[in-house]
Amino acid sequence: MTIRPQRLRRAQLAVPGSSEKMIRKAAASAADHVFLDLEDAVAPSEKAGARKKIVEAFNTLDWGRKTRCIRINDFTTKYAYRDIIEVVEGARENLDTIMLTKVKTPADILFADTLLNQLEQDIGLTKSIGLEALIEEVEGLQNVEAIAKASPRLECLIFGMGDFSASMGVLIKPDGKVGPYPGDVWHYSRFRLVMACRAAGIDPVDGPYADFRDPAGYTEEASRSLTLGCVGKWAIHPAQIDWALDVFTPNAGEVARARKLAAAYKEAEAQGLGAIQVDGTMVDVASIRMFGAILKQADLIGM
Ligand code: COA
Ligand code: MG
Repeated sequence: MTIRPQRLRRAQLAVPGSSEKMIRKAAASAADHVFLDLEDAVAPSEKAGARKKIVEAFNTLDWGRKTRCIRINDFTTKYAYRDIIEVVEGARENLDTIMLTKVKTPADILFADTLLNQLEQDIGLTKSIGLEALIEEVEGLQNVEAIAKASPRLECLIFGMGDFSASMGVLIKPDGKVGPYPGDVWHYSRFRLVMACRAAGIDPVDGPYADFRDPAGYTEEASRSLTLGCVGKWAIHPAQIDWALDVFTPNAGEVARARKLAAAYKEAEAQGLGAIQVDGTMVDVASIRMFGAILKQADLIGM
């Protein structure tokens, strides 16, 4: 089994790689993870310059315990290979992961993996750069199970509902709202992505919510993805960081209760018991497993 780095991804902050001001703000933010963008948030004329700004920022700013990630252009563009080479060579150990966009097949992941194998040897990198991938094309969702298992470098998949809508032809009205539909139009896609991630042992993450003045709408979407098994959601604006942390940080009472049940079960097991009752609730191996996600998140946070 692959041992991947375990990282917090409650709030993944999107930052245009061309904006030094926003990059500085991001480094000082409370996000667990920051991805400096070279793709859609950066105009074609700024892409080459943004790579240099990103390298400078990773090498000089204090990022605390954050995961330092870049989001690169997709492999059908002329930019993608240089995005990887220039930032890895420039930032070296100061880069943690690379996020791939519009991934359609496992071959996209393998291309990045092979390029990184060569780069890491060539420059004598002392660590292995991780990969993250956006599922935002219909073909990507069709292949999501194989994509999730494509490389030991792959740490998470993100559901990108904006591009996915475009790829699928989902009706988005001029006010940005999804057309009439009885239920959650993203249910199938999120559910399938989470299943693929869990089967592969990687993290499922929920994508952006464009309206950064709507905490209720953001929280509703984030809560749905938490319930399905996601470990975090994107923030496209600093205001959304706290909203994500609120949803994806287990509350202290729940963590204490889960730990109490786990301890009681361990004790019972040592006495040869398989199922016990704690405060009127049946506890067995399966119940302890159900608390696994909460306890793992709490341990990563240091609660
Ligand atoms: N990261 C870091 N800082 C950000 C930020 C981000 N994603 N978004 C906004 N800020 C900063 C602004 O620079 C501003 O700083 P200041 O108070 O020092 O002037 C502050 O937060 C408040 O921003 P605000 O004025 O409310 O918004 P804005 O008009 O400056 O920016 C967007 C709005 C949408 C353009 C901006 O949030 C953004 O570019 N988001 C990311 C877009 C992106 O990466 N898209 C691709 C992934 S979906
Ligand atoms: Mg996209």
